[in-house]
Amino acid sequence: MNIIHFLKPKSEVAYIIDDFTVRQTLEKMHVHRYSAIPILSQKGEYLGTITEGDILWFIKDYAFLNLKKAEDFPVISIPRKIDNRPVYITAHVEELYRLSLDQNFIPVLDDRSMFIGIVTRKDLLTFFQEKPTTKEETPYDSILSRRSIRKWSNFPVEKDLIKKIMIAGLAAPTAHNRQPIHIVSIADSALSNQLLDNNEYGKKIKDAPQSFAVFGDINIENDTFLLNNDASATIENMLLAIHALGLGGVWVGAANSEWRHLVEEKLKAPANMKLFGMIAYGYPNEKKSPHLLLDSDKIHINGWNRKK
Ligand SMILES: Cc1cc2nc3c(=O)[nH]c(=O)nc-3n(C[C@H](O)[C@H](O)[C@H](O)COP(=O)(O)O)c2cc1C
Repeated sequence: MNIIHFLKPKSEVAYIIDDFTVRQTLEKMHVHRYSAIPILSQKGEYLGTITEGDILWFIKDYAFLNLKKAEDFPVISIPRKIDNRPVYITAHVEELYRLSLDQNFIPVLDDRSMFIGIVTRKDLLTFFQEKPTTKEETPYDSILSRRSIRKWSNFPVEKDLIKKIMIAGLAAPTAHNRQPIHIVSIADSALSNQLLDNNEYGKKIKDAPQSFAVFGDINIENDTFLLNNDASATIENMLLAIHALGLGGVWVGAANSEWRHLVEEKLKAPANMKLFGMIAYGYPNEKKSPHLLLDSDKIHINGWNRKK
């Protein structure tokens, strides 16, 4: 399901521009009967959301309850309690769901970060109430629809989702159930990009908002082949969890030993912790179709050249 389906376009949405005064804003809210309204820059970028509550607190705290005094104040300078989080037009409907639990509308941006409209909680609820038969993606469908995502919006992934992805990683099978894998979450985008930029194949991944580094403990599993298998199972579990949570990620291989040492050093890994790979991930800003033509000649029954 595409976000376009729910989009109320900018031409039908009440918004204010960043040079509006308190009076102009209140008039606009009054006419449209909105208690919260998006603020756009002159160029059309989304800057945040101003609410009646923000204005009320401002009039109380800064204008001593004198509306006349507050009227000409530029609304952009008023402290805002919380801005409604936007999504890119390419985002998954799951992300809309999640945001709609906390905000009654979701601003939508195009790929140049320009505001193109909103999705209201009411429209989402109405749609799903009227279409109870909407087919959910099964876990099996989700495995088939996972793709490597290399473009993301700047919005940071919430801590509870980061934790869920790491737990999915730890839930992967390990040889002899030795559980030798450690995962480092790198929420600092500057550090993530520094690490990825030094990798020959990570360079192409532009502006990853955050990443994970997956390590194996050679004191617990001294067979590097098995340790590599354990780390690979962990990474795949995490990529599937990232996809299932409406995010997008890509595996960054650690074939180059110089790069492995750089990451181990930067993350202050103890000597027994070896890097096996990284994952760059975030809210996706590209959409990819599932692979259609998987090569069935690579599936063999009872070995090669045997009759089925
Ligand atoms: C071991 C391994 C290492 C990978 N390393 C990189 C990498 O360094 N950079 C990158 O952009 N993609 C990397 N990938 C992702 C592959 O390029 C990707 O899985 C492949 O092109 C298939 O596309 P899909 O994941 O969308 O199905 C890696 C994948 C694996 C399994």
